[in-house]
Amino acid sequence: MDTHNTQKPGTKAAARSSMTARVIGFVVAAVIVIAAIVSFAVIRSRSSASHSSSPATSTSAPAGKSSARSTVKLGNGKILVIIFSSKNAIYGRSKPAKIGNTMRIADMIVADTGADKYEIVPAQDYTGAYQSIVDRAQKEQDSNARPAIKNPLPDVSQYSTVFVGSPVWWGEYPMVVRTFLDKEDLNGKTVIPFATSEGSGLGNFQDQLRQQYPKATIRDGFYAEGLQAAQAKPDVDHWLRGLGLMKH
Ligand SMILES: Cc1cc2nc3c(=O)[nH]c(=O)nc-3n(C[C@H](O)[C@H](O)[C@H](O)COP(=O)(O)O)c2cc1C
Repeated sequence: MDTHNTQKPGTKAAARSSMTARVIGFVVAAVIVIAAIVSFAVIRSRSSASHSSSPATSTSAPAGKSSARSTVKLGNGKILVIIFSSKNAIYGRSKPAKIGNTMRIADMIVADTGADKYEIVPAQDYTGAYQSIVDRAQKEQDSNARPAIKNPLPDVSQYSTVFVGSPVWWGEYPMVVRTFLDKEDLNGKTVIPFATSEGSGLGNFQDQLRQQYPKATIRDGFYAEGLQAAQAKPDVDHWLRGLGLMKH
């Protein structure tokens, strides 16, 4: 005797209605699963579309701003990284680099803080053999020159914190950076130097900024040895965390 069969035998109508109920249940479950898959796909495609329009990679000027802003790569709009870096004038390298040493540090600061970035591009590029660049740079320094900058200057008024970084040349900021510093007023802002060099640390960057902008708050700067710049991320993170400027 089958002790597991609890249904009363002989009621064909009852058997048919239980089968119909099972089919309806199956169809409803299938519809719910399909609807869930479709809505997940729609949400994903919408969110990836909004991420791809993130302003961090935009190089165009926001509506209503002057065209001078077009050379600034946009981040969070509160912190600005000013950078001059030469791919050709790197101590200890016979060939130009793809990315200058100090530019590597600038990119790490941008990634950590969400800052905007403005690159100082000299009207006359520093190209050619290392020694010829060294000679030119020395002449510029001896004559206290202010070499011209090719690209429009950024509108610094909206930034409260400005990093100013470059290689150390003869213990100082390269004269093309001095051109920038003379043209822009960073008084009242927090200004933070950074550098790469091959033995001079930050050079006189801190003093130069203090002299140039007596009403700015000059905070602790950062430097890395030029040829070690690519490995400097942990040190950059540590420095920025100490300044309270890490984004996450
Ligand atoms: C003209 C010139 C002057 C330099 N003067 C110094 C210096 O005074 N002290 C120092 O440690 N390194 C000096 N260096 C080496 C650079 O600071 C170093 O190679 C730097 O990492 C280059 O960075 P960049 O690739 O961002 O231009 C000098 C290099 C050049 C081309």
